[in-house]
Amino acid sequence: MRALEGKVAIITGGNSGIGKATAKLFADEGARVVITARRKDALDQAVADIGHGVIGIQGDVADLEHHRAVAAAVVSTFGSADIYIANAGVIDLKPSEQVTDEVYDRHFSINTKGVFFGVQAIAPVMNDAGSIIVTSSLAASKVLPHHTAYAGSKAAAAAFAKNWAIEFKERRIRVNILSPGPTDTEILGKLGISAAQRGPFLEHMANTIPAGRLATSEEVARAALFLASDAGRFVNGIELNVDGGMSLI
Ligand SMILES: NC(=O)c1ccc[n+]([C@@H]2O[C@H](COP(=O)([O-])OP(=O)(O)OC[C@H]3O[C@@H](n4cnc5c(N)ncnc54)[C@H](OP(=O)(O)O)[C@@H]3O)[C@@H](O)[C@H]2O)c1
Repeated sequence: MRALEGKVAIITGGNSGIGKATAKLFADEGARVVITARRKDALDQAVADIGHGVIGIQGDVADLEHHRAVAAAVVSTFGSADIYIANAGVIDLKPSEQVTDEVYDRHFSINTKGVFFGVQAIAPVMNDAGSIIVTSSLAASKVLPHHTAYAGSKAAAAAFAKNWAIEFKERRIRVNILSPGPTDTEILGKLGISAAQRGPFLEHMANTIPAGRLATSEEVARAALFLASDAGRFVNGIELNVDGGMSLI
């Protein structure tokens, strides 16, 4: 039997990178999957690439109405959900003196508020003994250059997750934090640094990972599968670093 046979999974930011790889793996493992994101073309492409009847819903995680619409669509299509992955996120690397109001608000409206109100809307339509995964980042616990605003937004989301692990205990919904280290996805092209700076930055990152390379999105997806599936059924309230050991250095 496949690991997620009969389960319904919702993955935000599912049209790219880690979210898309996770949606593909979960669908391959038998889940009925809903993915969300803003860019319609990339969403349609992901639906076609993933196959398995995956459903794409366009929207912005910073918009509370979007989360309510996703919850309503899941109820009308499947009745309920089993797995929710609050994965959508953005990063804009800047030294703190260059962080504008807009940059700060973008991090916190998507990476933090988007997670909070996503779980607020989706948890009520989840089955008991479900699994919520909050995608944070190694940057939430390890100081990395120019990550301050991003790190704060991800640390807050991780704090939400630990509180939810207790808040949802009566319903036996497990809530865990997935914290990737540097992972080779589209986000590396959206870091807010110049193309000239990107090469040395990524080389520096790879050199600080014991494996000597960045993770692939599929490797992070495998960790999400562990947390979402029966393999992780007694794992609750943890932060799982998927960083090739980078946290040690
Ligand atoms: N790659 C890394 O090195 C790394 C390391 C640590 C943590 N993470 C975290 O892992 C998660 C996935 O990142 P990734 O590397 O897979 O990056 P990615 O390929 O850029 O994917 C980000 C996803 O989030 C979606 N998204 C962004 N803003 C959104 C919004 N306001 N509303 C709805 N969806 C939104 C994007 O779709 P649209 O643009 O179409 O909306 C996209 O699907 C993020 O939370 C990121 O912070 C990544």
